[in-house]
Amino acid sequence: MSASKINVAKQAISFIKDKLTPSMILGIGTGSTVNCFIEELDNYSHLFKGAVSSSNASSQLLQSKGIEVFNLNDVNGIDFYIDGADEVDKNLIKGGGGAHTREKIVASASNEFICIVDESKMVTKLGAFPLPVEVIPESRSLVARRIVSMKRL
Ligand code: A5P
Repeated sequence: MSASKINVAKQAISFIKDKLTPSMILGIGTGSTVNCFIEELDNYSHLFKGAVSSSNASSQLLQSKGIEVFNLNDVNGIDFYIDGADEVDKNLIKGGGGAHTREKIVASASNEFICIVDESKMVTKLGAFPLPVEVIPESRSLVARRIVSMKRL
């Protein structure tokens, strides 16, 4: 774990800790920065009810901390979704961790998205990080053809 990722995870905890309530479900994303956040969140697990997670890896880490993981279908709403990103200018590239579809669903169910990134993710123009495109198996060829036919900008 890098010191800068731990630092941004701690900043996110500072932002959220006074807002936690016993009935609150948090949305938790995926990646090494989020893993740092979960490590810090462990100290506050008695202050909220549980989490909905965007990946099996995050679910396992949450459960190893004794944080209950809920299915999104079983919760009424999510106040905060906390996740990292792959590249940031005024927009974000996300999905490099291979969990983009679930991330978008949990983010969409949440009132507020807290994006935690260290300085290594900040760029003046997006594009150095390959743009992840997540497709269901049935649409793989169709999406590939469409992408190949796109004009290069
Ligand atoms: C997961 O699919 C991504 O959107 C992650 O948020 C992203 O890959 C960040 O990962 P790291 O925190 O490991 O850089």
